[in-house]
Amino acid sequence: MANSSRNRKILFAKRPQGMPDESHFKMMEEEIPEIHEGEVLIRSLYLSVDPYMRGRMSDAKSYAEPYEVGKPFIGGIVGKVTKSKNPRFQEGQFVEGRLEWAEYNVSDGSDIRKVNPEWGPITTALHVLGMPGLTAYFGLMLIGQPKEGETVVVSGASGAVGTIVGQIAKIKCCRVVGIAGADDKCRYLTEELGFDAAINYKSAENLRKAVKEACPAGVDVYFDNVGGKVSDAVMSRINFQSRTVICGQISQYNLEKPELGPRVAGQLLTTSSLMKGFIVSDYAEHNKEGLIQLSEWLKEGRIKYRENIVEGFENTVDAFLGLFRGDNIGKQLVKIVD
Ligand SMILES: NC(=O)c1ccc[n+]([C@@H]2O[C@H](COP(=O)([O-])OP(=O)(O)OC[C@H]3O[C@@H](n4cnc5c(N)ncnc54)[C@H](OP(=O)(O)O)[C@@H]3O)[C@@H](O)[C@H]2O)c1
Repeated sequence: MANSSRNRKILFAKRPQGMPDESHFKMMEEEIPEIHEGEVLIRSLYLSVDPYMRGRMSDAKSYAEPYEVGKPFIGGIVGKVTKSKNPRFQEGQFVEGRLEWAEYNVSDGSDIRKVNPEWGPITTALHVLGMPGLTAYFGLMLIGQPKEGETVVVSGASGAVGTIVGQIAKIKCCRVVGIAGADDKCRYLTEELGFDAAINYKSAENLRKAVKEACPAGVDVYFDNVGGKVSDAVMSRINFQSRTVICGQISQYNLEKPELGPRVAGQLLTTSSLMKGFIVSDYAEHNKEGLIQLSEWLKEGRIKYRENIVEGFENTVDAFLGLFRGDNIGKQLVKIVD
């Protein structure tokens, strides 16, 4: 149970080989910090767990600095300013930022943004109106460039990014096929989000055949969140001048040895196709326009979302590990306090 005068934090305890578990994290407690001139104290309300964090647990060279062993884990948090000595932020204001996995954070204001509750519930700053929403929007619109009538396939379809990709592709009048790991996830995609078809990659007897049946006109845009065998099946159906957007490779993140698959260069060559990886921050200069568009679609009800909420700061690590078990439909969040 939380002690109201204390601040609990989760530290990165050691680097994992393969699948991480609770032993790679450590809970510690300290006094709630004091703030100095120019700073704010933020009470964490909701915390986001995201697959990219697994990459930062490794010390392999990547686009983001590895987490430091012994230091707090960092991630997206929506919180409330409870004390302010910074004229830009008032007490009671909601903010979002990449902060320490802690019940309280001190910020000088450079790593947080104000959350406007008129745009949507404050939790949406961690998904539709935040990093996953912008990832879906930039990846699909700027790289995938879907055109009316085309077939768009998205893997990891029932998660934070995938659900938004599929709905934007529907707004753009495409045939949308989602690939996910459970029947209830597939039903959610077709019955609630308007996807045209969904494939359960875990139960499909022949994934290539399932993709062929769901995409009778082939695949024009493949938005890849997972990689591995799912992608092998989709890539076998790409069309002339198709675009493959490499957003994530979650099926590979916990492997101890790299997995070898088909070599797709020949297929890209003979179909004059594009395959491009990206990181959401590549397009940071477009964040504002992306958020305005996403908030309009959200208000119009053209983008829907679901949140998978785990209650209690002490359950943060398990919520994070659940991403790799496929526990979530929609965005996985941890609720720290009301
Ligand atoms: N490029 C960027 O800037 C950027 C930004 C954000 C996210 N991403 C990437 O986008 C992907 C989706 O992120 P998200 O935040 O939306 O996560 P998410 O989809 O909400 O959650 C992860 C989901 O991945 C699926 N999964 C887990 N292990 C898998 C495996 N071995 N094979 C296939 N699917 C597996 C699970 O669903 P199932 O039940 O369907 O297996 C799980 O629910 C991740 O790869 C992430 O790293 C990239």
